[in-house]
Amino acid sequence: MSIHADSKPWTVPALAEAKRNGQKLVMLTAYDAGFARSFDANGVDLILVGDSLGMVVQGHDSTLPVSVEDVVYHTRAVASVLQRALLVSDLPFGADATPERALEASLQLLKAGAEMVKIEGAGFKLDIIRHLVEREIPVCSHLGLTPQSVLRLGGYRVQGRGDAAQQLLDDAKAVAEAGASLLVLECVPTPLAGRVTAETAIPTIGIGAGPECDGQVLVLHDFLGLDSGHRRPKFVKDFLAEGGSVAGAVLAYADAVRAGTFPDAEHAYAS
Ligand code: KIV
Repeated sequence: MSIHADSKPWTVPALAEAKRNGQKLVMLTAYDAGFARSFDANGVDLILVGDSLGMVVQGHDSTLPVSVEDVVYHTRAVASVLQRALLVSDLPFGADATPERALEASLQLLKAGAEMVKIEGAGFKLDIIRHLVEREIPVCSHLGLTPQSVLRLGGYRVQGRGDAAQQLLDDAKAVAEAGASLLVLECVPTPLAGRVTAETAIPTIGIGAGPECDGQVLVLHDFLGLDSGHRRPKFVKDFLAEGGSVAGAVLAYADAVRAGTFPDAEHAYAS
C-alpha cells in the first residue's frame, strides 16, 4: 500500500483532468480536525463535510434537522488542517430552496474553508447550480438516492431502476451542463452509474454505485465499521478491520479505490 504520489493540493480544474487521465478519486466524509488531518496526510483526495453529520454525529434519524450553522462549524474544523485534499461541504436541507438562500449559505461555507458546495437533486436545482457557478462557487451535484428527499421517497433505497434510469441519466447531463464540477451518485445500479460516468464530462463519485464511477466516497462512521444505529447498507465496508488503524484503513481504502477493487460485486447493486 502506498500514499498517492502526487502531493500537490487538489484544485477544481484538476478534478476534470483526473477524469480525462483515468485517475480514480478517493473521498471520505469528515467532521473534525483529527480525522481530517489523518485523511489528508494519508492521500485522500476529497473530503466531504456531509449533512450525514445529522445522523452520525448528532444522532438524528435523517439529515433534515441539520442547519447551515452546523455545517459551517464542522467545515471550519476540517478546513483548519487540510493541506492537500479538496474540501466539499453540503448545503443542508432547505438551504438551497431558493437561489438567494443558496448563495448566502454557500458564501458562509466558502468563508469557513469549503472549496465546493454540494447540492442534492436536479429539476429546479439546475437554476440554483447556474446561479452559484456564475458567482464563482464550484458545485458538486448529488443524484440517485438523495437523503434530503427521504420524506418523498418514503425511505432509503436504490434509485434509477427501470424507467427511472433515463431520468437519472438526463439529470446527470443537465447538472453537468448547468456547471457542476463533480457528481455524487448514491445507491444506483452499477450499469447505470457506468453509463452516467461514460456519458458525462464531469467526474462521478459513487457510494453504492459500483466500481465504474470515477471515484468513491464513504461516510466516516461506516468506513470505520461503527454501528450507526441504522440499517447497514450493502455498499458499506469496514476498512478499520482490514487496515488495523485509522491510517491503515485510509491506505487500504485508497489503494482499493485506485486499483478498482472496491467496491466489488458484494458492495454494489447489479441491477
Ligand atoms: O452527507 C453525506 O455524507 C453524503 C454522502 C453520503 C455522499 O452526502
